[in-house]
Order: sequence, then C-alpha cells, then structure tokens
Amino acid sequence: MQGKGIRIEGLSKRYGEGDTAVLALKDVNMHVAPGEVVGLIGPSGSGKSTLLKCLGAVIDPTAGRMVLGDEAIYDQGWKVRDLRALRRDRIGFVFQAPYLIPFLDVTDNVALLPMLAGAPNTQARERALELLTALDVQHRAQAMPARLSGGEQQRVAIARGLVNRPPVILADEPTAPLDSERAMAVIRILNDMARRYETAIIVVTHDEKIIPTFKRIYHIRDGVTHEEAGEGRVFA
Ligand SMILES: Nc1ncnc2c1ncn2[C@@H]1O[C@H](COP(=O)(O)OP(=O)(O)OP(=O)(O)O)[C@@H](O)[C@H]1O
Ligand SMILES: [Mg+2]
Repeated sequence: MQGKGIRIEGLSKRYGEGDTAVLALKDVNMHVAPGEVVGLIGPSGSGKSTLLKCLGAVIDPTAGRMVLGDEAIYDQGWKVRDLRALRRDRIGFVFQAPYLIPFLDVTDNVALLPMLAGAPNTQARERALELLTALDVQHRAQAMPARLSGGEQQRVAIARGLVNRPPVILADEPTAPLDSERAMAVIRILNDMARRYETAIIVVTHDEKIIPTFKRIYHIRDGVTHEEAGEGRVFA
C-alpha cells in the first residue's frame, strides 16, 4: 500500500471566486519516493502551506490528482470516503505552530494518536517516550505544554507527527524555533524515520541551516513549482 510514496499531478487550488479569487497553486507536479525527505522552498505567500493542506486533506484542491502509495486519493475530487481516517492514520503533520492540547501532559499529547488508533495505553506511552527521548525532551515528559519553551513545544509536536509512523509526513517549518544543533537533530530524525519506515517526507522551510541537507528541492513561486537537485550534505 505505501510502497510508492507521494505523487502530485497537475494540482491546482483557487481560493474564492470572481474578482477576489486567488490562484494559489497552478498545475503543480511533484513526487516523493518512500524513504525520501524533500525540501519545499519559496517566499511568503507562494503556496507552500496550501500545497501541504491539499495533500493532507485539510482543504479541497480545485483540480488535479494526488496519489498516496498505490491509491489515487484525489482525482478531480476526493476518492477516499473517510478523510478523517486518512488524516489520522496515513499522514503525519508537523505544523508551524505546535497546537498541543493544553490539558494533556507532554507524554499524552504524543500518545493520544496511537491510543486513538487502538494501541494499548502503556504501549502508546512507551512509543511516545521513545520519540521524546530521541528529540531530547524526555525530561519534560510529565509537564503540561504551557510550561515548555517554544522550542520544547515544537519538539513535542514533531514527536506527535511521527508517533503513528505514517507513510507520509508533512512538515511546515518544523525547525523554525530551534537552535542549529536541535534543528539538525530534527532533520536527522526525519531522515532516520524516512529510511527506517519507508516514509515520504516533505519539509517546508526557510531555514538556511537545513536546506543543504536535502538531496532534492522543490522551489515554489506564485503557485508554480520547479525541481532542483540539492546538496544532500551528509551529516554526522
Ligand atoms: N483561506 C484563504 N483564502 C484566500 N486566500 C488564501 C487563503 N489561504 C491562503 N491564501 C492565499 O494563497 C496564497 C498562498 O498562501 P500560502 O499560505 O499557501 O503561502 P505560504 O507559501 O505558506 O506562505 P508563508 O511562507 O507566509 O507561510 C497567498 O496569496 C495567500 O494569501
Ligand atoms: Mg505557510
């Protein structure tokens, strides 16, 4: 099912109608292989978040096709009946803002998704703690989100995006609030995840520290993408 990554063909998105309509995506083509981490880079307002939201079934595209694994999830209309299940089980999101649940502690914020997917509570918490450790926030595991720094909150949100090992991860500026060492740690974890679980990962970023790590980059400008080879710098 998840063998083929992500493919986007001729995707367009228009917001609104008539004179005030905004054509945010214009005939976008993109593919991300299983195990690959690609960068998506472009100026503010170029359509990056719109593209991730379409792919993540958060908003409806206007036209085109999107294929996850072997399955066309969108082809001039949604082809998946249960979009909530698609978002919950097959797509991991890491947003620009962490959106943690304020009344759950850090561990449960991460463990909630596997619990919802049916994992026993202890197993869900163990998996959460494993990721929190990898992201170097295990010492805050029992804390409430409001007591965390911005960077700590972001790392918890990253753990939550990865915890169900979805075949696709969409990350919008995941390293923005982090210092360079932690930003690189996040990129390392994303690359490990990609390789280990055959995950296809798209990272939207302006972060100069992490751009050299991508082997492939999609540039987007006014809703139009073009592909470029990246440096693919290996990091220790
Ligand atoms: N809900 C909306 N209604 C109307 N226009 C929108 C909506 N959301 C985004 N747009 C417009 O679509 C275009 C693309 O926006 P998008 O949020 O995808 O940009 P972005 O590349 O993510 O920018 P940033 O780097 O600032 O986050 C912009 O012109 C924006 O104003
Ligand atoms: Mg954005």
